[in-house]
Amino acid sequence: MKTLSNPALQAIRVAAVALVVGVAAPAAADPFPGADLAVAKQTHAAQCVECHAKRFGGEDGSEIYTRFDRRVTTPSGLAQQLTACTTMLNLDLFPEDEHHLAGYLNTHYYKFQ
Ligand code: HEC
Repeated sequence: MKTLSNPALQAIRVAAVALVVGVAAPAAADPFPGADLAVAKQTHAAQCVECHAKRFGGEDGSEIYTRFDRRVTTPSGLAQQLTACTTMLNLDLFPEDEHHLAGYLNTHYYKFQ
């Protein structure tokens, strides 16, 4: 029997560990792994859309994320800007809520890999 090369074994071990801790190994690099997009969609609709839509337009408040001169240009920039909004506004979100939101915004608008 042909034995598996070390890198292959390593990859299998990593995948197995990911399964054990309940994290799906992402197909492509995901800067916000495991973000719960369904939860984030609700948080976003409830806490973020109205103000963004009022100031930047777009019926769903998305103009702010897609405008030509948007501020966010990196995954860490996204996390920072998002935290700036929630802190400034005292929105009282848990870090995992912010992680979900970052994943949600990235999936729909920023698309960082
Ligand atoms: C009371 C108003 C208000 C609320 C509520 C608000 N924001 Fe913002 N947000 C802003 C403003 C104003 C900016 C633009 C800052 C700038 O361009 O200088 C902004 C910018 C951002 C950006 C950067 C967009 C870009 O240019 O790329 C992100 C990301 C963001 N907000 C996330 C959120 C999230 C997530 C929430 C909800 C949890 C939220 N914001 C709630 C006012 C708000």
